[in-house]
Amino acid sequence: MVQQPRYDEYERGALFPDHMAMQLPPDGVVARDALERVAATRRPPMTLDLVERGKQRFEIFCVPCHGHDGSGDGIVPARGFPHPPDLRARRLVEAPDRHFYQVITQGYGAMYSYSDRVPPHDRWAIAGYVRALQGTGLAPEAVATDMQGVDHAHR
Ligand code: HEC
Repeated sequence: MVQQPRYDEYERGALFPDHMAMQLPPDGVVARDALERVAATRRPPMTLDLVERGKQRFEIFCVPCHGHDGSGDGIVPARGFPHPPDLRARRLVEAPDRHFYQVITQGYGAMYSYSDRVPPHDRWAIAGYVRALQGTGLAPEAVATDMQGVDHAHR
């Protein structure tokens, strides 16, 4: 049982014409979840349902640090965790939707990844809700520096 007759990776083997144990998949093979993974990277249309789902998810996963208004004044930073930036700051208003998707997926600096808790569709939903929060008003310093030229056509 401990010693079994089997090939290791990259070993020579007698089964195939090229005498290699490992073979490339035949042309046209698609990994089982590849299509879903590609589809998940595309932003779904922003509907009211999606934004409402995003609000609910934001309140569960993001509010503890980012606060209900996105200001970063959540209860966790109040206890000493690094203070997140204001989600309504100009830099983040101007960032594409994809940026929020990526921050949730990969984490960002001191913020850890939420990829195991927030599935792809919900990441877009949260991104949509962050847009709604941003629409409620720019962060005070952004308003003070420049109110001109805000492009709301984010993709
Ligand atoms: C445990 C606290 C915490 C939670 C929960 C949290 N964040 Fe963060 N977030 C942070 C901190 C801290 C930063 C700043 C990280 C840094 O710059 O090192 C940050 C940064 C960000 C940024 C700014 C990235 C940039 O470009 O500067 C975005 C966007 C963001 N978070 C979105 C989210 C979303 C959406 C959620 C919910 C899914 C979430 N965060 C949950 C703490 C948190």
